[in-house]
Amino acid sequence: MHVSRAGHLLPPGRIAYVDGRYIRHGAAGVHVEDRGLQFADSVYEVIAVSNARLVDAAPHLARLEKSLSSIGINMPVCPASLAVILNETARRNQLREGLLYLQVTRGAASRDHAAPDNACPTLIVTAKRTDASLMQARRGSGVAVISTADIRWARCDIKSTGLLPNVLAKTEARKQGAYEAWFVDGDGFVTEGSSTNAWMVGSDGAPITRSLHDNILAGITRSVLLQAMSAAGIVVQERAFSLEEAYGAHEAFISSATGGVIPVVQIDGKAVGSGAVGPVAKHMYALYCELSRKISMV
Ligand code: PDD
Repeated sequence: MHVSRAGHLLPPGRIAYVDGRYIRHGAAGVHVEDRGLQFADSVYEVIAVSNARLVDAAPHLARLEKSLSSIGINMPVCPASLAVILNETARRNQLREGLLYLQVTRGAASRDHAAPDNACPTLIVTAKRTDASLMQARRGSGVAVISTADIRWARCDIKSTGLLPNVLAKTEARKQGAYEAWFVDGDGFVTEGSSTNAWMVGSDGAPITRSLHDNILAGITRSVLLQAMSAAGIVVQERAFSLEEAYGAHEAFISSATGGVIPVVQIDGKAVGSGAVGPVAKHMYALYCELSRKISMV
């Protein structure tokens, strides 16, 4: 904490990490010809911080390595150093509840679509405080989602910063008073949310979520939740479900690092089940938190 001239304790200014330096958030920046800026030639991760500890950090870093290797960018530093940088950024921002954003771009180079051989990757980490009570309220009341055509590319497994379709979808959701937009493929099946994985619960109470073979992001929250369900002996169906099927679901929910598990009580203005938060979504959140806490912190 800083102390003001009047002697009041002030929260610290935000600190960002860019390429080896911790700097004032407002002064942080990258080169004008950074390929992340010009081509979205970059990938990212969002890691939650809860009680000043990184949540599911190891699988997030493993996914980052996978995204980077898919597009031929080297890890800018080794995973252990990256973990140190993430923890240090959280510490310098006195982050107890919030989010760490990590981006790796291919680096700066004279503009040419073809990737240069010799660019040096740019590494950015920022920290943001979040209002835990707001998320809790969303979990308590449930949220509305809208559906929209999935106009994204065929490599949604790569956590690319090329997010224009996601931006447009989420913006439309917010315009319509909804929290999230669910993408729907050409065959009428829900793929995932603009920044979350999508789940529905059938009449037998079994959660259903699209399989990873079907061009979606391998959400870390999704995978921790699946592990927790398997350990609890809960039957899950990893398969595509249509929007029509979701309209008739008993319950629905979304999962992501930013919100854990959030119940969905309305899809395209139609109530899901009773229109209230159901027991399965609540149980899923509890299961997720329990296992996530146990997963080793880096
Ligand atoms: N989004 N699907 C998409 C398209 C996403 O962008 C995300 C995460 C998820 C959930 O993944 P995870 O459980 O690993 O957070 C699924 C992050 C939070 C974001 O873009 O802010």
